[in-house]
Amino acid sequence: MRVLAIETSCDETAAAVLESGWTLRSNVVASQAELHAPFGGVVPEIASRRHVELITSVICLALEQAGVTLRDVEGLAVTNRPGLIGSLMVGVMAAKGLALAGSLPLVGVHHIEGHIFSNFLCTGGPHLPAVALVASGGHTDLYYVRHLHDYFVLGRRRDDAAGEAFDKGARALGLGSGGGAALDRAARDGDPHAVPFPRVRTDPPLDFSFSGLKTALVRHVRDHAASLHVADVAAAYQSAIVEALVERAVKAIRLTKAPTLLVGGGVAANSLLQSRLREEAARGGFEVLLPPPELCTDNAGMIAAVGHNLLDRGQRHDLDLDVMAREPLTLRAY
Ligand code: KG4
Ligand code: ZN
Repeated sequence: MRVLAIETSCDETAAAVLESGWTLRSNVVASQAELHAPFGGVVPEIASRRHVELITSVICLALEQAGVTLRDVEGLAVTNRPGLIGSLMVGVMAAKGLALAGSLPLVGVHHIEGHIFSNFLCTGGPHLPAVALVASGGHTDLYYVRHLHDYFVLGRRRDDAAGEAFDKGARALGLGSGGGAALDRAARDGDPHAVPFPRVRTDPPLDFSFSGLKTALVRHVRDHAASLHVADVAAAYQSAIVEALVERAVKAIRLTKAPTLLVGGGVAANSLLQSRLREEAARGGFEVLLPPPELCTDNAGMIAAVGHNLLDRGQRHDLDLDVMAREPLTLRAY
């Protein structure tokens, strides 16, 4: 089956074409990052308006790059939850229009499930059972994945998401709106032991908490404004976030005895997180899958992978498919 997928849950307008399960023919992403930069974060109203402007040309480009036309598409997948409501609506309405015009089956996809499926695009199929660590701007979750579409929550964020901690840290360190990628670069020449940032314990122990760490950083920047060594502070802050993620992921692997760790979400592109997880995988004798950066951050290829699988199983949504700002991955059984 050839699936066209649309993803507009936040500030990336994306479309992709995928064939026979795991083969991506195109994966187009138009980022709005620069548009939101002056505001220090994504402005929902601006995001949805920009999606309206871009969605048609992004879809056309995805079809063109795949070397197909709308007539060759056999199914449609679209992110309908969770995300910014106005942004989600643009993608869902576009998908509904195409489904109606082409009499095509349509399926709504959970964004986080997309981040997990990114891993399978790299391996050409599922590697299960597994533990999945999803760390993005809005989420930090650990799941036990026994089968496709079967998720058990092992841990979740209690306050800020890991990507949010990176974004706020980058701003506090004067790295502008470059977010985690800018902090990752700034930390490269720094000493991770330069500042003893707190290692936060949580109860339950596999949950995540980053807001105290962010406050410690802001306080450090304020108290050392005259002598701030940005690379050192960035390295120490990054290390504190990464160690919290690594420690819990490794604990989850030990607890579940899963042979594989799946990693997804924008933070999975972090260079320290990748090298630390590879180290732990070698030491602990488990497999770690790390998608390339373009599949870690938001994209429609990952939505196409989930959508293809669901359509293959006969899952269909009607033209009254709704959007949802919040929706846990585990509550809705397929
Ligand atoms: O998955 P994603 O593209 O969007 C959401 O669903 O939120 O993740 C975006 C997040 C941002 O917070 C960004 O700062 C973070 O991923 N990010 C990184 C890196 N690249 C992107 N964080 C740490 N290191 C990176 N290299
Ligand atoms: Zn995401």
